[in-house]
Amino acid sequence: MKHTEWICILDFGSQYTQLIARRVRELGVYSEIHPFNIDPAFILEHKPKGIILSGGPASIYEKDAPDIDETLFHQGIPILGICYGLQVIAKHCGGVVDPAAKREYGPADILINDTEDLFAEIPGTTRVWMSHGDALTKIPEGFEIIGHTDNAPICAIRNVQRKLYGVQFHPEVVHTKDGEKILKNFLFNICDCRGDWTPESFITKAVDDIRKTVGEKQVLCALSGGVDSSVLAVLLYQAIGDQLHCVHIDNGFMRLNESREVVRIFKESYGIPLTLVDGTNEFLAVLRGITHPEEKRKRIGNVFIELFEKEAKALGDIEFLAQGTLYPDVIESITFKGPSATIKTHHNVGGLPEKMNMKLIEPFRELFKDEVRKVGRSLGLPDHLIHRHPFPGPGLAIRILGEVTPERLERLRLADAIFIDELKKSGLYNEVWQAFAVLLPVQSVGVMGDTRTYENTIALRAVTSVDGMTADWAQLPFPFLSKVSSRIINEVRGVNRVVYDISSKPPATIEWE
Ligand code: XMP
Repeated sequence: MKHTEWICILDFGSQYTQLIARRVRELGVYSEIHPFNIDPAFILEHKPKGIILSGGPASIYEKDAPDIDETLFHQGIPILGICYGLQVIAKHCGGVVDPAAKREYGPADILINDTEDLFAEIPGTTRVWMSHGDALTKIPEGFEIIGHTDNAPICAIRNVQRKLYGVQFHPEVVHTKDGEKILKNFLFNICDCRGDWTPESFITKAVDDIRKTVGEKQVLCALSGGVDSSVLAVLLYQAIGDQLHCVHIDNGFMRLNESREVVRIFKESYGIPLTLVDGTNEFLAVLRGITHPEEKRKRIGNVFIELFEKEAKALGDIEFLAQGTLYPDVIESITFKGPSATIKTHHNVGGLPEKMNMKLIEPFRELFKDEVRKVGRSLGLPDHLIHRHPFPGPGLAIRILGEVTPERLERLRLADAIFIDELKKSGLYNEVWQAFAVLLPVQSVGVMGDTRTYENTIALRAVTSVDGMTADWAQLPFPFLSKVSSRIINEVRGVNRVVYDISSKPPATIEWE
């Protein structure tokens, strides 16, 4: 890590830990999440401006309750404990935590006792978000109470001299009205941060790092046309120009005109060296007769690697492979909870590096998705690319339930294009995280004119989400759905019924396969 200033977030397993990291970064300070039990030597070596202890599901006095090393409290580094983090501070400094007389979940009004540092410019009462079972009943020696509620007489504490602060509520969630101000106060009043973490500063540093790493060598990049690989390609091109070689593999499962657009934008507008590989026939051939979702993914992944390898060989001596790995993937692999169970195999270029004997370049390993978008905007990428909905690597093949055939692909592609077109026209596209059509393996009876029909069903799926891990079905207006439905039935041959998916994730997933 080569950041001039950063905040270390120690994770105790809260569902909001990533949110804390994002909020801190939104305020212009780079932050990193580490497991609570990381070796303190690592933290001290990298000199954070402050430490934030996240919340967590544990109870501080239970056996094996997660805890941090005592030495961290004696370095003069400011610490802010949130919820369970507050209890960790209390335990180390001699306070007492008990099961709360009344558990608090949801909104509460906190009375601010002091507006000097953490609560600067937050006078009187403010609405906060609580989520805790245990509460502090005796404050540690040397601390003072700076906020309380009717239920929790001790809701926020501090020890100015030791720069230790703790809050029982969650300043990182939007339901805490002055949450941003509180975090800002911690960063700038207490940790003395400068706040120079911006997309522009990221780009300057990334370009520099890429140049140093790559030298005179060549870099290969799989460009799908999605947000991450698009921003990656433009960033790499800025750094190393024609030493970059992009390969776009059209697997035949792309959306309407998608591959053509990728070539138009990146090759023709930006001048990025790009090879288009049309693999439609190869991909379709391996899916013949295949209906099982995981088997489809596996076969698509294998052909992808095969074609990509062939292309790399044809290009000659290439030393590096660039990937758009994001920070949440990195955290997932270092979390103390261990990697979560695989529900679906998400192939992108996942299997490539081991097979190809190339060195990896992953400039976005430190970024969240919304930060990649900001970097993209700052690099001048068009808005419609930056705000594109996520699209799975195996594409329409996993939105066609049952066998994938050219005829069924065409049907789905048209239906999907109509849905997306209408979302854009009505200004709803950016209101949802992801929207698409699915072709079901179901035929049903209908009537068109005077004729009985027995045709296919399209399901429409639109969800709202923050990161795709959980999602709600989007409550799109009925008149809108009605319009999309009649356009699809009128314009797509072979479809006589459209249904809307009203399942959330969990228990459903976003994609149908
Ligand atoms: P699920 O269906 O698991 O999807 O709720 C969560 C997010 O991941 C995307 N997704 C994929 N992306 N390869 C990908 O690159 C895949 O095989 C894949 N499956 C799902 C999905 O579109 C959603 O954004």
